[in-house]
Amino acid sequence: MMKKRILTGDRPTGNLHIGHLIGSLQNRVLLQNDYETFILLADVQALTTHFEHPEKLQENTYKVAIDNLSVGLDPNKVTFIVQSMVSAIAELTTFYSMLVSVNVLRHNPTIKTEAASYGYDDLTYGFLGYPVSQTADITFCKANLVPVGEDQLPHMELTRKIVRRFNSLYNCDILVEPEARLSNCPRLPGLDGNSKMGKSLGNAIYLCDTPETIKTKICSAVTDPTRISVKDKGHPEVCSVYKYHTVFNPQNSENICQMCKNAQVGCIACKNELYAKLNSILEPIRARRAYYESHKSEVKDILMSGTQKANLIGNEVVAEVKNAMGITILN
Ligand code: TRP
Repeated sequence: MMKKRILTGDRPTGNLHIGHLIGSLQNRVLLQNDYETFILLADVQALTTHFEHPEKLQENTYKVAIDNLSVGLDPNKVTFIVQSMVSAIAELTTFYSMLVSVNVLRHNPTIKTEAASYGYDDLTYGFLGYPVSQTADITFCKANLVPVGEDQLPHMELTRKIVRRFNSLYNCDILVEPEARLSNCPRLPGLDGNSKMGKSLGNAIYLCDTPETIKTKICSAVTDPTRISVKDKGHPEVCSVYKYHTVFNPQNSENICQMCKNAQVGCIACKNELYAKLNSILEPIRARRAYYESHKSEVKDILMSGTQKANLIGNEVVAEVKNAMGITILN
């Protein structure tokens, strides 16, 4: 039996962090054995917010590809794709754009939140329409499953709607309605106590950080602000370091919680234990990174051959789509 397909992607706007690790990357590594997996380096989508700096795209594409490889995605199993090099995605985006109203896009809650966070009040056509292009990302290979974060759910609903509309309008069953798969890991707060760890917020631990950097970052992480001395009883529920323990040190986090509440462990000891745990998780990732960073041409080959495979698949789907629409043959 043919394996079902997964497609998921990252916008190459900079290195990935430990929030990505637990929120999506670990999940990808688990799923790669059971599904035919496609990882899209969504460089065109990165342009929707970073169009003023296209010169950074290529370097960031390599960075994000290496982040994915270093966590254990196996290039012999997984297809890595550079979005801008797959013309089927651009073509499908054009056809799908006829099936979506501008108002629906303007009311998309993720578009609204992101527009506000970038300070946009007048949206570009490309930014407003990126969920349509994301539909093309997912459907060019007829993906069945799309592992994403919660913020992507409105886009997944739109994708499913476009697929149904296309199939019913053109009386075919060419496009596949994909399902979203959420990770069951909680969202990591930032080192500064902000509810989100973000590339642009300066409060993240990156997969590529050295042990020394990680040590410094954890040392300066914000804990319970009411705990001034070791003798004060702590409130782990408001402490980001404790939250990290629950994720990266689950075996001992309950113990730490009790000790903190009873003033039996200080923040420094607690942070040292987290550092040791996190570092042991990141060590094998670092080793694979070192390999790929010294074998850049291998990474290039992985991206080129994956993209070539994507083009073969995508061109076939575009042909099917045009055929269903009756726009292939000139009479
Ligand atoms: N928008 C996604 C994000 O910001 C990235 C992405 C682009 C994506 N194309 C995709 C995710 C296709 C899933 C499927 O995380």
